[in-house]
Amino acid sequence: MEYPNISAPSHAAPAPGPLLPDRTLLVAGASGGIGAQIARLAVAQGARVVLLGRDAERLEGLRKELAGHGGEAIAAVADVCDAESLRLALERCRDHFPPPDLLVTSVVYGQRQVFLCEQEEEDWVHTIDVNLNGAFRLCRRVVPEMMRRRSGGIVLISSVAGTRGLPSNTAYCASKFGLNGLAKALAAEVGPFGVRVNAVCPGLTDTQLLLREDAYGQDFMDSLRRHHGPPDLTWARYVNRAVRNTAIRRLVRPEEVAWLTVFLLSDLSSGMTGQTIGIDGGS
Ligand SMILES: NC(=O)c1ccc[n+]([C@@H]2O[C@H](COP(=O)([O-])OP(=O)(O)OC[C@H]3O[C@@H](n4cnc5c(N)ncnc54)[C@H](OP(=O)(O)O)[C@@H]3O)[C@@H](O)[C@H]2O)c1
Repeated sequence: MEYPNISAPSHAAPAPGPLLPDRTLLVAGASGGIGAQIARLAVAQGARVVLLGRDAERLEGLRKELAGHGGEAIAAVADVCDAESLRLALERCRDHFPPPDLLVTSVVYGQRQVFLCEQEEEDWVHTIDVNLNGAFRLCRRVVPEMMRRRSGGIVLISSVAGTRGLPSNTAYCASKFGLNGLAKALAAEVGPFGVRVNAVCPGLTDTQLLLREDAYGQDFMDSLRRHHGPPDLTWARYVNRAVRNTAIRRLVRPEEVAWLTVFLLSDLSSGMTGQTIGIDGGS
């Protein structure tokens, strides 16, 4: 039986070569473990990269590192909660590079996570503001131009906490479920304009965030000990238990998240949008 030609024109099989040639990629959270790794890999795959975050020194350090390898990058200091600083960062981006073809948000606020009945409203609101509203603000700024050019790719770095509920983590989980909803709904809106949106959901990943109890959240651990136990639970035991519950019995590596992200940004994944993809070692 003959089928009508309902396919979009197919991309030729990609020739070996860089996956993101001549693309401008904006990475929000570029100074962090996963964001920096995505920036490094994207540059190695031919992209020019805008490194966005609040810490000017760390962004400049990464910019110099990338430049040392011949990579094109600029640092753009901005807080995703501050619309004016984002506007200025995007302006700086336009002064140096063509408009972003690609966007990654790898930003996180994960502190002061406690049992809901003890959650201060301002901490709840701030978690949602950084993790979810920040992604909205960035998408809102870059998507119109992507649609105009009928080409674009967005990856929102979410979490396994966006696919299942974790105790003493309601705000963080809600923000990450929200990110996954944003990815799916935005994908449906902008797909006809050639823009794809996906979310990546890492499990525990080997970054600074995991090194110390106070980096992710003293309050979270105190809350877990008090409400869920055991009362002598330590951060190290919590992380070890989570690792033992994975099929691969180890933390995910930032470079593994980076490869998945670059794949999703590249034409290799041209049929994929609106997906929330776990990279959690089989947990
Ligand atoms: N590591 C894990 O185990 C794990 C697991 C699941 C999901 N994730 C997700 O992976 C992503 C990256 O995490 P990571 O482990 O790489 O964390 P990280 O090392 O702490 O990096 C977080 C990044 O977010 C930036 N950031 C925080 N608040 C910001 C704000 N208000 N405005 C702009 N930038 C801000 C930080 O930069 P500045 O300080 O310079 O602003 C930093 O670059 C996050 O979305 C996180 O939820 C991580």
